[in-house]
Amino acid sequence: MDEIYLNGDFISKSEAQISIMDRGFLFGDGVYELIPVYNKKPFLLDKHLKRLKDSLTLIGMDEIKEIDKSIKTLINKCSHSNFFIYLHITRGSQAQRNHIYPSNITPTVLIMCEDYPCFSEEKIKQGFTASLQDDFRWMKSNIKSISLLGNVLLKNYASQNGFYETLLIRNNKLTEGSASNVFMVKDGKVYTPKLGSELLPGVTRDLLIMLMKENNLDIIESDISQTNLVESDEIWCSSSTNAVVPIIKVDDKLINEGVVGKISMDVFNLATKFIDNF
Ligand code: PDD
Repeated sequence: MDEIYLNGDFISKSEAQISIMDRGFLFGDGVYELIPVYNKKPFLLDKHLKRLKDSLTLIGMDEIKEIDKSIKTLINKCSHSNFFIYLHITRGSQAQRNHIYPSNITPTVLIMCEDYPCFSEEKIKQGFTASLQDDFRWMKSNIKSISLLGNVLLKNYASQNGFYETLLIRNNKLTEGSASNVFMVKDGKVYTPKLGSELLPGVTRDLLIMLMKENNLDIIESDISQTNLVESDEIWCSSSTNAVVPIIKVDDKLINEGVVGKISMDVFNLATKFIDNF
């Protein structure tokens, strides 16, 4: 896990150096991806690379050539079989700090192998808690930007107050979690906010929607009001680190009397099976 890729070289983490003039450091000017690796295979790599390309396009950067090859080489160099690839691309460094970037700037490309906590099935069955918070982040949350201060403050609000996640509300509508997408169940139907600039198009969100459709579960992408959310029968959060994290309490309000619901566990099992067969 010590070896990383930085701008064409495979080197150890301790050797790696980045200029203090890098725009990622100075402005948070860049994008990232987090890709699970199962049995040495990058999970849904094409989808992550497609989202990376979209993020780059949205910030006016070009595609990074042969990044898939660099990812695969690093995976093969890693002694572990199951981990996460963290991919971080900044616009690059320039001689003077300037909001305006030059047209001929060379991007900084960093790829690392990382470990993140994945919850056991026992823990999933117990359920987690969340807090509703105002979504004060910027209006381009569909870009997987490395400028994560809003998300960082919201996730830390959760952790400092004993919650797993914050569920974000903007204009009385659910957008997403501070580091996850959100689904809810009402009367047997599953709902998730429709895509737009207010939320990240999660790769796991996409996968769960596909799995639910294949298994004849009703899944509807639509606006979800704060009242709809807290009066729902089930809620779960999804992300590449944990595909389905059931939420059984939102602030003081129990969801499904504080018990993880059947549909949440069904979808958790569908995702687990898909990953096991990958
Ligand atoms: N974050 N929304 C936000 C704001 C996120 O940060 C994430 C994931 C998601 C879920 O996206 P995906 O299913 O593609 O992982 C939604 C990752 C895990 C992170 O920042 O570490």
